[in-house]
Amino acid sequence: MATVPASLAGSFQGSFAYFSIKDRLPQILTRVIDTLHRHKNEFFEEHGEKGIEAEKNTISILSKLRNELQTDKPLVPLDDKLPDVPLWNQYLEYQQNLLDGNEQPSWFQSPWLYVECYMYRRIHEALVHNPPIDDYDVFKEAKVQSFFESQQAIIALCTYLQEILKNIEDLDEKQLQEEFFKLLQVSLWGNKCDLSISAGEDNSQKASPLKSLDNLKTFILVDDMESIWSLLINNKKRRTSEEITRVDIVLDNAGYELITDLVLANFLLSSKLVTEIHFHGKCIPWYVSDTTKQDFNWTIKQLQSANNRWMSRCGMNWEGSIKKGVWVYHDHMFWTLPHEFCSMAQVATDLYTELQKSRLIIFKGDLNYRKLTGDRKWEFTVPFHQALNKFHPAPLCSLRTLKSDVQVGLKPGQGEQFVTSEPDWMICGKYGVVQFDASL
Ligand code: F6P
Ligand code: MG
Repeated sequence: MATVPASLAGSFQGSFAYFSIKDRLPQILTRVIDTLHRHKNEFFEEHGEKGIEAEKNTISILSKLRNELQTDKPLVPLDDKLPDVPLWNQYLEYQQNLLDGNEQPSWFQSPWLYVECYMYRRIHEALVHNPPIDDYDVFKEAKVQSFFESQQAIIALCTYLQEILKNIEDLDEKQLQEEFFKLLQVSLWGNKCDLSISAGEDNSQKASPLKSLDNLKTFILVDDMESIWSLLINNKKRRTSEEITRVDIVLDNAGYELITDLVLANFLLSSKLVTEIHFHGKCIPWYVSDTTKQDFNWTIKQLQSANNRWMSRCGMNWEGSIKKGVWVYHDHMFWTLPHEFCSMAQVATDLYTELQKSRLIIFKGDLNYRKLTGDRKWEFTVPFHQALNKFHPAPLCSLRTLKSDVQVGLKPGQGEQFVTSEPDWMICGKYGVVQFDASL
């Protein structure tokens, strides 16, 4: 087997991984503790003294967790009754086996991807241990707030979509392609709005999403939009009337980014480029703003009941697509495991088989990119296909703004030019990629 480079890790002093583990993760934990504290009265009203007791216990577990992290303690096995526990604990053993006999996996020494995922899973474990607040989403408040802070951009997008839909049947191929490119870019830049990079601070979309596209074009470092278009239009041309063309979207953040994904999905269906869209979300609250089933349903309900007629029309259409079965929502525990996607075929065979039914899988966001590429110290010029390390369930693409130290598939010199001129180019979210891999 070809060798793969080392994983990004907090042991590389001065790296973004180091900074994240040292500062950003404890900050996120502090916010979670604060959120629980502020909702004390709510827990009391709903569950009485038991609610208060659970809140106190959860806070004490989370404070201990923060201390373990900050003092680089060994990672401990998970201990709750959820079905993913054996896989997590096997992964810990696997990490242990990679080390010398007297070393133990720990927050700063183990791969960043692993310890970061582990922190979110431990937050969930703390709640699971504390009924009656065991299904409380500690990030819900931040997600809801960010949704409302993006209202104007959401209205602009819903209005634009309804305009296109009015005469979508009359658009020729060129016009259809133009609209597709626009909505694909809107979905790409929607990925700037995640609440994990901002440690939960407001990071909503304020500017009008369509007007800024031309100016943002120069910040797309890899642009495979043409290849994605060819794939979709050829599928459409060849399709027999009964045939299903399915696109899968592996969702990232709720709030504005989710709206951009749903708008793209609506366009793909209405233009008949595809016949079914399958969405994939998270089973548990994850990386602050990632979409759960509850967020997905809540968002569609919000739109349906909005005062703006274009928003509510979108909400109504989307609800209709779900009822008709042309929009399907899935969740799978694999998405909240620490594994790289190249191990999906072994670890989550059912999910891999499901994804093989797709004509195109769209992976949204930075974390999915890290898992696609294994979150490793790849050279910038390594082909995307190689970094996928045999993960090829179907043709796939990544729409991702750069918020971590991994990037592949660049032209020689393209990455290096930033290293001195813009040292934070990989973590500031200003740059993006639309990166495609067709081969199986
Ligand atoms: O903590 C950092 C991180 O993992 C980054 O990779 C990224 O900034 C964020 O969390 C998640 O980003 P996204 O929502 O785009 O997956
Ligand atoms: Mg996210």
